[in-house]
Amino acid sequence: MPDLVLQARGVAKAFAAPSGRLAVLADVSLEVFSGESVSIRGSSGSGKTTLLQLLGGLDEPDVGEVRVLAPGLGLVRPRTSLGRGVGFVFQNYQLMPELTALENVSLAARIAGASAGPAESAARELLAQVGLANRLEHLPARLSGGECQRVAIARALVNRPSVILADEPTGNLDERTGVEIMDLLLGVVAERGAALILVTHSREFAERAGRRFVLSGGVLSPA
Ligand SMILES: Nc1ncnc2c1ncn2[C@@H]1O[C@H](COP(=O)(O)OP(=O)(O)O)[C@@H](O)[C@H]1O
Ligand SMILES: [Mg+2]
Repeated sequence: MPDLVLQARGVAKAFAAPSGRLAVLADVSLEVFSGESVSIRGSSGSGKTTLLQLLGGLDEPDVGEVRVLAPGLGLVRPRTSLGRGVGFVFQNYQLMPELTALENVSLAARIAGASAGPAESAARELLAQVGLANRLEHLPARLSGGECQRVAIARALVNRPSVILADEPTGNLDERTGVEIMDLLLGVVAERGAALILVTHSREFAERAGRRFVLSGGVLSPA
């Protein structure tokens, strides 16, 4: 029986806007189990990024609750999961420009509490796994977009989170590199036993996920 790794119940979120209150998420519930992949499509502005931020604890819902499985801690609020609950992959990579590939990944492990030696060896192992064993000392500016996204995937996985949240991870990449990154993401996430929630505009990529949803009108519906 797979573990429940993410649970959102009755999540709603609105923002204050000059024209009044902007309701973005009306009532979103979702359960994701270990090893599962889930895709979410939706038009621009439908609230996909807002939803991922709530699922990952970067923001709080107005109504409802989110829990993620943090190994050793159980099902907890994402913000208290110490990097073990979720890992993020963003469209624009979000790497630290002044840090090398190795330092970008190691830093994520240090922030989650690992000491220097283990953080660096975990980072080396993951960077090798994403095909960057010979790019460890490169700064992001010296890496291609696809390579930057590989570093970001390594960083997202370094604390062995139970869920990876990927927000249009191929959005800045050419078609061929996008396919490579999708192959890599689905492969390493499955190999590490994590679950994946993938937000994408691509119908083709969305269909590679085990379960598919569309976000529209503030609710998730099966696609
Ligand atoms: N922090 C915020 N404050 C005000 N409005 C926001 C904020 N974040 C997002 N929005 C608005 O919420 C809507 C959904 O945004 P977003 O979640 O980024 O959509 P998507 O990722 O699907 O394109 C948009 O209309 C956006 O302008
Ligand atoms: Mg978005």
